[in-house]
Amino acid sequence: MSKPKPVVIDTDPGLDDALALILAMRSPDLDVRAITVVAGNVPLATGASNALRILEVLDPRPVPPVFEGCEKPMSPPVSRAEHVHGIDGLGGASSSFPVRRLKAERRHAADQMVDLARRYGKDLTIVALGPLTNVATALQRDKDAMAGIRELVVMGGSADSRGNATAAAEFNFYSDPSAARTVVRSGLPVTLVGLNVTEKTLLPQCRFNRFLDAMQRGPLRSFLAAVSCPYFDFCRKEQGIDACAMHDPLAIAAAIDPALIRTDLMQCDIVVSQGLTRGMMLADRESTDAEASPVRVATEVNSDKFIELFLGTACGS
Ligand code: RIB
Ligand code: CA
Repeated sequence: MSKPKPVVIDTDPGLDDALALILAMRSPDLDVRAITVVAGNVPLATGASNALRILEVLDPRPVPPVFEGCEKPMSPPVSRAEHVHGIDGLGGASSSFPVRRLKAERRHAADQMVDLARRYGKDLTIVALGPLTNVATALQRDKDAMAGIRELVVMGGSADSRGNATAAAEFNFYSDPSAARTVVRSGLPVTLVGLNVTEKTLLPQCRFNRFLDAMQRGPLRSFLAAVSCPYFDFCRKEQGIDACAMHDPLAIAAAIDPALIRTDLMQCDIVVSQGLTRGMMLADRESTDAEASPVRVATEVNSDKFIELFLGTACGS
């Protein structure tokens, strides 16, 4: 087995972020060097508490440090996603899993991201699961260091310009389109994992529950049960199906096994103006915009293989 890949996970936990963090922390192929938190689904402090909560449930050795980042987006703020993730960001489960031991570090997430980029360079992968405010801030603080990393995998946007926050925009890009545009046009080695593939990764509740039933009883099994129920309930209410789209877990899985997705090089841009198209992602295979460097955009996913990886790693006994 090759050495685990050093990663930084930037997140706004968030129900699917929680599932993604569990996948990452339990994967033998990733070495989570830091968890950086950004405001998005919920306010920064709530997201940071949830990251600590998830680590206390997992009780890993060693425990990756948690850093708080940007509370406000670079673009004018818009509504959060408490209607999806609950006021506490975990569908109401947070009260059953209090944070007792761990604390966030005092350093700003963007500074830690830059420091790790300097230290690990071409060995470092950053996986961004929320609005890109922290990543864009890190780029502003030291673009050369950030440009030297192996890859930035981003859950965001959609290759076909569809949206879930609005008709035109995916939530992470809608929340901070200025940050998203900065990152997408930065020249960093970006891989965009958008709704066009994440919405194909539907995890059926019955299949998930079978894995849960087979898990050893303990805090992780209880936590997975507690956060999955509200997420499945939301998906059933919104989409009328007993399955949920695994947006953030797919971005983590793409860092674990890049062969799970097919990517094409495209020139992308993000609408930063306010109004109906705020946060809309435009991806063009043909564009010859000399100014912008192309990014890798996920166009296909092996959904069955991804679901197997997720269940076997996150819910494996
Ligand atoms: O559009 C899906 C993304 O928005 C996910 O990262 C989810 O957690 C929400 O933040
Ligand atoms: Ca997220």
